[in-house]
Amino acid sequence: MLDEKKKIIYSAMQPSGYPSLGNYLGALKNWKNLKDDFDCIFSIANMHAITVRQDSANLRKKTRDLITLFIAIGLDPEKNIIYYQSDVPAHAELSWILNCFTYMGELNRMTQFKEKSSKHSENINSGLFTYPVLMAADILLYQTDVVPVGEDQRQHLEICRDIAERFNNIYGEVFKIPEGFIPKVGARIMGLQNPSKKMSKSESDNDNNVIYILDDLNLIRNKIKRSVTDSDNEIRYGEDKPGISNLLNIYSAVTGKSSEDSENEFRGVGYGEFKEAVAEAVIKEIRPIQEKYRELSSDKAYIDSVIKEGADKASYIANKTLRKVKKKVGFPQ
Ligand code: TYM
Repeated sequence: MLDEKKKIIYSAMQPSGYPSLGNYLGALKNWKNLKDDFDCIFSIANMHAITVRQDSANLRKKTRDLITLFIAIGLDPEKNIIYYQSDVPAHAELSWILNCFTYMGELNRMTQFKEKSSKHSENINSGLFTYPVLMAADILLYQTDVVPVGEDQRQHLEICRDIAERFNNIYGEVFKIPEGFIPKVGARIMGLQNPSKKMSKSESDNDNNVIYILDDLNLIRNKIKRSVTDSDNEIRYGEDKPGISNLLNIYSAVTGKSSEDSENEFRGVGYGEFKEAVAEAVIKEIRPIQEKYRELSSDKAYIDSVIKEGADKASYIANKTLRKVKKKVGFPQ
């Protein structure tokens, strides 16, 4: 089914909110760029999403909208495998087995767990704690070579590698040890109102902080115009200039220009004009995605067929690894 010679790329996104510009620049845009040169498998991580309380109908809708958006950004269900994590039971099965090879101390160190448990202090469930183990199962089931993600997933990739190496040391070469692929620019897009924190799709308190890929284009322009900067009127990167640095990053990631080229391009330009140029670049990138998304959303039968075929293709590969793992740990065959 997969081309034996090509490397395998695996990544996933939670349907916990509509994707932000951060999700797009840190992950989706790279997935699109890699999709022709690798065997790519992308999933909607809806099992991860329920580690935080979700409204069921809303989660179901966001899950379907996200797979539609995957196709709208240019992923190709003919060539890439696109599926729902919950459609492939092997994820839950391998996750349990790997839990038995993961130490509490390792999970205790995860910064995302610490952040999420302080944000959702009323619901610190064990799924939130073992979240990285399910993520390791996702990746390892497909004998993944490369995992394209944003900077915030670096620690989860490291624990995935550690778990895989530990398992392989005991049972032989069962899992491929995956490498991360974290882009040079765009790996950490910050909030527009609070550029000291990453832009997050599940943030609801301040909508001006986050650009959503499906935001009205005028709203995107206004959010960028209203973004927080500073008072010295100089366009350059600097730790003392988080707002301007973030806009420069967004501009570079969207246009594909290097950070230096973007900085040079705006030397001596006023903040108003700069923000206008950033907004134009973002809108130019997003407009065709939104058009395609609207077109695809009305094609129910097509989206249904992508979901079904994706689940079948993913299950086939995942079950191969799972069978091997079950045999190694001593389950009856
Ligand atoms: P999630 O859904 O939070 O985010 C999806 C992807 O978007 C990246 N990202 C960002 N990149 C740049 N700037 C930002 N502000 C920003 N915010 C998010 C994330 O790094 C990620 O690549 N645990 C994962 C989903 C997952 C997964 C996997 C990923 C489940 N299983 C297996 C890779 C492989 C997550 O919550 O991503």
